[in-house]
Amino acid sequence: MLSRPLLALAGALALVVGTASAAPIATGEMLANSCAGCHGTNGRISNSAFMPLAGMPQEQFVRTMTDFREGRRSSTLMGHVAKGYSDEELKAMAAFFASVKP
Ligand code: HEC
Repeated sequence: MLSRPLLALAGALALVVGTASAAPIATGEMLANSCAGCHGTNGRISNSAFMPLAGMPQEQFVRTMTDFREGRRSSTLMGHVAKGYSDEELKAMAAFFASVKP
């Protein structure tokens, strides 16, 4: 179930690595593509058991994802998802989602 988003992320990272002049890390928008399968494109989803991410305040996003990653917040899926991201990547995604209008 997680392989598709992880593959998408691997693809995004490969793109960045393949372009010498590009930024050294994937942008928040690229990283956020991995979340679209469940949370909607750009974190926009209207009808859902999955919460929208668009417009979530950056601090709340980083805290929630860190809690999932460290196991402080229980989850069915997000603990595994969150383990795949460094603090820098979470900050990049936070900035992206906060900039998207819900
Ligand atoms: C396979 C489906 C799936 C994918 C992919 C996924 N999520 Fe989630 N997400 C969930 C589920 C389900 C929950 C509810 C908590 C739980 O049970 O894990 C959740 C909850 C969350 C929450 C908490 C929302 C709130 O209002 O408290 C955040 C933040 C979040 N996800 C961020 C992300 C981000 C960022 C990504 C991409 C890196 C992502 N998710 C990818 C399924 C997914």
